[in-house]
Order: sequence, then C-alpha cells, then structure tokens
Amino acid sequence: MNVRVYKPLLFAACLLPVIWLVLRIAEVVEPGLGANPAEEIQDELGLWALRLLLVTLCVTPAARLLKKPRLYRFRRMLGLFAFFYCTLHPLAYFLLDLQLDFAHLGEDLLKRTFITVGMGAVLLLIPLAITSTRGWQRRLGRRWNRLHRLIYPAAILACWHFYWQVKADTIEPLVYCAILALLLGIRFWWSPLKGRLFRGG
Ligand code: HEM
Repeated sequence: MNVRVYKPLLFAACLLPVIWLVLRIAEVVEPGLGANPAEEIQDELGLWALRLLLVTLCVTPAARLLKKPRLYRFRRMLGLFAFFYCTLHPLAYFLLDLQLDFAHLGEDLLKRTFITVGMGAVLLLIPLAITSTRGWQRRLGRRWNRLHRLIYPAAILACWHFYWQVKADTIEPLVYCAILALLLGIRFWWSPLKGRLFRGG
C-alpha cells in the first residue's frame, strides 16, 4: 500500500461531502436543498461528522484484523476531518438557525437537551484535535493514548445526540448506534479489562 498515493486520495474523498454541499447550495447540481435549506445543510454536515467519527474508529480494528498496520497512518487525517465536520455542523446551526443570537442559544441549550449533548461531544473532541500533532504525541507520551480515548465518550454522545433529535423514525440513528456498539465491543473484547472482569480480578 503506497501511503503517499492514498493519502491525497483520502484527503480529496473527505472533502467531497462539503464540496457537494456547496454545489447544491449554489444550485450547480441536483437535487437542491429542498424546502428548508438551513436544516438540510445542518443535517448533511452532522451526518458526515458522525460517519467520519465512526470511520476513524474503524481504523484500529481494521488494521488489527487485516494485519495491515499501515492503515494507522490514515487515522489522524480521518479524525481531523471528523472534527472539521463536527465544527462546521454547529457553525451552520449558529449562523443559519440562530443567526448568531446567543441568547437563543442559551434557551436552546436548556430546552433542547440534545443540543447540549452534541456540544458535549464537540468539547471532548477539541483537546484531541489540538494534540493530534506528532509533537504533542511525543510530549504527552503514554498520556496521549489515554487522552485520545476521549473519542469513545465523544462518539457515544454524538450517537445519543442523533437519536435524541429524531422525532419519529429512529431506524437510522439506531443503525449508527449499533455500528458504534460493535466498534466499542471489539475494543472491549481485546482490552485487558475483559480478562479481569471475566476472571473476577
Ligand atoms: C455544538 C455542538 C452541536 C450542535 C449545536 C448541534 C446541533 C444540531 C441541531 C440543531 C440539529 C437538528 C437539525 C435539524 O433541525 O434537523 C442536529 C442534528 C444532528 N447532529 Fe448535531 N449538533 C452538535 C454536535 C454534533 C456532533 C458532534 C455530531 C456528530 C459527530 C452531530 C451530528 C448530528 C446528526 C447526525 C444530526 C441529525 C441529522 C439528520 O437528522 O439527518 N451533531 N444537530
């Protein structure tokens, strides 16, 4: 696997959803944004944020199961793109929905609790994005791995946020929850914690 070839390809692939969205906004491509463009933009960005978060979590099991350690080299880029969509999505909400009315944000945080949960996910991801560089990895040593486990609660909050904001059809968020449960389940299965729990130690 030639990482130097695949990395730019992956970079371009991760940019495609936002490029496609811009083309839809500019009405260059079909379908347009429908009756509620603000909601459509937020939903698209939110879905891609969650998808990329889950794809990032797929890297470790895929590298181990396929015995392809080179896959780890794509993890940081995927994680940073997940964070990119995780910030664009609430940004769209602040700009298009709230129109920067921060008093309304306070109200929403209290009344629409799913938004508070989504914000929790973003807050957990901020230190991970900041410390994603090699320099920080070196400086933090083993603490870096511990810190980056925050991606697990962040992904749980993101799925919960999705599930909670759906009014009727819960199938789609439940599919994402099931994928996350599988990805976390695999990690638990491989972790020393499993051995300790089952041996009662
Ligand atoms: C400050 C943080 C966040 C805020 C303020 C926020 C806000 C919102 C709002 C207002 C909606 C409903 C949009 C509508 O009316 O349809 C929504 C939906 C959604 N959000 Fe977030 N969100 C945040 C963080 C996140 C994060 C971190 C993720 C995923 C990683 C995420 C994924 C989603 C998804 C998947 C939907 C549903 C999309 C759909 O219905 O198709 N959100 N969010």
